[in-house]
Parts: sequence; structure tokens; C-alpha cells
Amino acid sequence: MIYLKSDQEIEVMKKSGRLAAELLDMIEAHVKPGVTTLELNDICHEYTVSRGAIPAPLNYKGFPKSICTSVNDVVCHGIPSSKTRLKEGDIINIDVTPIVEGYHGDASRTYLVGNCSEKTKKLVRVTKECLDQAIAVVRPGARVGDIGAAIQKHAHANGYSVVRDFVGHGIGKNFHEDPQIFHYGEPGRGVRLEAGMVFTIEPMINEGDWRTKVKKDGWTAVTLDGSLSAQFEHTLAIRSDGRVEILTVRD
Ligand code: MF3
Ligand code: CO
Ligand code: CO
Repeated sequence: MIYLKSDQEIEVMKKSGRLAAELLDMIEAHVKPGVTTLELNDICHEYTVSRGAIPAPLNYKGFPKSICTSVNDVVCHGIPSSKTRLKEGDIINIDVTPIVEGYHGDASRTYLVGNCSEKTKKLVRVTKECLDQAIAVVRPGARVGDIGAAIQKHAHANGYSVVRDFVGHGIGKNFHEDPQIFHYGEPGRGVRLEAGMVFTIEPMINEGDWRTKVKKDGWTAVTLDGSLSAQFEHTLAIRSDGRVEILTVRD
């Protein structure tokens, strides 16, 4: 069931979205060779609680930390650890979801660690472009399939694959709500987008095959072939007047 949000609720969700964007801006300076993903977690945790917000990932279905940190072939849901130390040329996706006044804001970016190869930089750039091109098709009356098709088209044109095992999602008082936002699909198919919908788009794009597996920790999803994977995520809202607003940005 899809919970539609009033403009008033969307205004509240702009607060959690704004904090997510602030977190992702703030943490960028700390993403350097030598830092551990646990240190990045702790910095984000402190920043979140200092704003009176709650980090939604912590204890969510048993997830043990406050953010997700997904390095190189980790597709998503990487668990911050003192054993995972970033090195020059790595990429890391940091995914944050603060709760403000009961509403979630969900966003992620992939960062370059020091100097990366042109090949790596291209994957990250194209993944960001996939998200931007998907956002551009969002309007009342468009379909979820239009979003997926836009992502798939740009990824495939660049020789990449689109992860199918994880989807974007409705969001609000719950971390994950209907509808599911597939990152692949056919134009004109799927759920019709309408005013009041608030959802994420969060494409995961692989250099190699799209298939993934989850490690024994029950969370860490990696590419089956060990290839590099990148991801970007925004939370979007469709206002009552039909305007599309990206919530996970700063003023
Ligand atoms: N933030 C992720 C998403 O985009 C979900 C993380 S669930 C967690 O949907 F438990 F791993 F935090
Ligand atoms: Co999400
Ligand atoms: Co997220």
C-alpha cells in the first residue's frame, strides 16, 4: 500500500532530506586513504545525533551501524568496520538515513578515494548520470518503468549492467514503503507516479555482471564477479501541484 504525503508532511521530510545532504557534504573531507569505515560511521553518527536526529540504519532489522559503507565491489549495505581501511584508488558509497520528526531522509553518494583510474572515474560519473536522467523522467502520470528504462539505457550505452536485486522505495514514517522503484524496466509499464508520492531512486551500476551475492554477515552485498560497483541515491517528492522536488539537497 502506498502512503501518499501531504505538502505539510513533505515540508517535514525536507528537514530529514536536508540533513542527509549535509551529512554527505560533511563526510567528504574525511574520505581519504587511511581512514577506516568505522571512523566514517562514528563521525556521521555523532553529527546526526548532535542535530537531534536518529540514524535509521542502526538496529534496523539487526543492522549494527549507523550508515552503510560500500567499498569497491560491495554493491550496498556494507557494514562499517575498523578492519576496512580505505586506500588510494578505492571508491566508497556512503548511504545515510537520518530520521527527523519521525520522517526518514535517504541519500547516498559514491566518493573517489585519492587518485582513481580513468576507468573507475567513468563508472562513478555514469552512475551519477543514471540517477540524474532517472530523476528527469519523474512527473505525475509517468510510470516506474520509465525510471528503470532511463537508467538501463544510459548504463548499457556505457557497457555497464544494472543491479536487479535491490530497488528504490517509497519512504516516510517507514524506512522502506511501497512502491518499489526498479532501476531497470520498460517505458510505460509499472506503477503510475502521482502527487503525494515520496520515494528514492538509488541505482547500483556494475562494471561487470549485474548479479550479486550477500556475504555471511547477512548484509554485505557484493558483485558475484568481483567487478566494481557504484551507487547514488536521492529522495524525491511529487507535490500536490505536480512539481517534483529533490528532498535530499541543501537550501
Ligand atoms: N539506506 C539503504 C537504502 O537506500 C538501506 C539500508 S538498510 C540498512 O534503502 F539496514 F542496511 F541500513
Ligand atoms: Co534507499
Ligand atoms: Co539509502
